[in-house]
Amino acid sequence: MAADLSPIDKAKFVAAKRAVGFVENGMKVGLGTGSTAAWMVRCLGERVREEGLKIVGVPTSTRTAELARAVGVKIVSLDEAKWLDITIDGADEVDQNLALIKGGGAALLQEKIVATASDQMIVIADAAKEVQQLGAFPLPIEVIPFGWQTTKALVEETLESLDVLAREVTVRMNGDRPLVTDESNYILDLHLRRIGNPRQMALILNQIPGVVENGLFIDICDILVIGHGDGRVTVRDINAGSETDDHIQFSPSDNIFSNLDD
Ligand code: A5P
Repeated sequence: MAADLSPIDKAKFVAAKRAVGFVENGMKVGLGTGSTAAWMVRCLGERVREEGLKIVGVPTSTRTAELARAVGVKIVSLDEAKWLDITIDGADEVDQNLALIKGGGAALLQEKIVATASDQMIVIADAAKEVQQLGAFPLPIEVIPFGWQTTKALVEETLESLDVLAREVTVRMNGDRPLVTDESNYILDLHLRRIGNPRQMALILNQIPGVVENGLFIDICDILVIGHGDGRVTVRDINAGSETDDHIQFSPSDNIFSNLDD
C-alpha cells in the first residue's frame, strides 16, 4: 500500500506517475529498466486497464518485458516498432545539462538504443540522482566477453589521459562469475569519482575494441521528472528551457503496489 512505501519509493512512484501523463493513445513507448522504471510500467499498465489507453511498449530488458506483460502493456520489438514516440527510463545520475549515467541495472545497451530511437526521452528519478558533476556513481560500460581482460587493461590505459579523479575498473559479478547482460556481454564498472568531460569520455570509450557501449547518455534526455517523498514533482524540459512543479496524490489501486520485485 502507498502508506507503507519508503520516502524514496514514493519519490520514484510520483516521478513515474507524472511521466506516464506524457503518454497518449497510439504511441509507441520505450520502457526503461530499474526500480523507477518498474513504477512507470505499473502506472502505464494501470492506464491501459482503467482508461483503455492503446499503446505498444518496447522493453529495454527481459525483466521489463516480463513486468509489462504482467501488467497488461502490449510489447513489441524495436524492429517491429522501428521508431518510438517516447521513452521513459530511470537514471543513476543526472547533471544540469541532463547528461546521464545509466547502466546500474546492466541494461545500458538496449536502453541507449531504444532512447536514441525515440522522438523524446523522459528520465524519471528521485532527487538524490541529481548531481553537479557526473562520476560519483561508477560508470558502467558493456564489453564483449572475448578478451575482456585485455579490453579492461585498454580502458585503464585510456583513463590515464582523461580528466577523472579515480581510475579503478572492476568487472561486475554475479556470484563468482561475471554478470552476463541480456546481450550476452559483460559489464565493467569505472570508479572515477568525477568525470571532467563526459562528452569526450563517451566518445573515447566507444573507440576501444571490445567496448560495445558506455553508460553516458549525452544529448539524449529531453525531459527530467524529479520526484520527492512528499508527492512533489519537478518537470524540467531542456528544449523548452522550462521548469514546472506539480503534486501527485498517492491514490493508485492496490494492485499497483503488489509483487514488487524490481
Ligand atoms: C538500468 O540499467 C539502469 O540504467 C537504470 O535505469 C538505472 O540504474 C536506475 O535504476 P533505479 O531506478 O533502480 O535507480
